[in-house]
Amino acid sequence: MSAASIVAAGPAHAAVLAALHAATMGENAPGAEGWSTAWVARLLALPGAFAFLALAPGEPPEPAGFALCLPGGEACDLAAIGVLAGRRRAGIARRLLARCEDGARAAGARRIMLEVAEDNAAARAFYAGAGFRAAGRRRGYYRASSGAAARDAIVLSKEL
Ligand SMILES: CC(C)(COP(=O)(O)OP(=O)(O)OC[C@H]1O[C@@H](n2cnc3c(N)ncnc32)[C@H](O)[C@@H]1OP(=O)(O)O)[C@@H](O)C(=O)NCCC(=O)NCCS
Repeated sequence: MSAASIVAAGPAHAAVLAALHAATMGENAPGAEGWSTAWVARLLALPGAFAFLALAPGEPPEPAGFALCLPGGEACDLAAIGVLAGRRRAGIARRLLARCEDGARAAGARRIMLEVAEDNAAARAFYAGAGFRAAGRRRGYYRASSGAAARDAIVLSKEL
């Protein structure tokens, strides 16, 4: 199968980004509320926000993953990155992250930062391999929808 293509996403893609967020982030998003289309559109309207979509080849191409970054001066915030379960381990997140890093550098950021659930082994392995290092902890950052205990987030940072 040929590789997915990575394209810049804008407000017109808010619905597909929200759907990808719901399908990929699950318990790995803070809070239980998810991202509505309107919320994604609001995020993308923030000055300096940017996002990418991964499209798997097809007619029409099929959304396979996404990433969304928010500006934070010297520290760009990778707010979310997710790849559909059936499309994982094909390098899509690595390529999405590379585009985010390019975008952050172009915006003048010196580092890229994010939160990851302490028990999200796949994402932690992904970020460690991509050169992120632990920079802090946010206690109870991931509130569970089901009454289970809240989980801590590890703050990760990578110099650009
Ligand atoms: C984390 C996530 C984005 C990785 O996406 P992906 O497209 O499968 O990642 P890639 O194929 O680009 O992986 C790149 C490297 O990261 C590491 N990696 C990725 N997934 C891994 C896993 N499940 N276990 C161990 N290492 C993993 C590997 O080193 C991999 O390289 P390799 O496949 O050559 O060994 C994906 O698992 C996902 O969407 N998870 C749910 C959402 C989520 O948790 N997002 C992050 C929230 S902070």
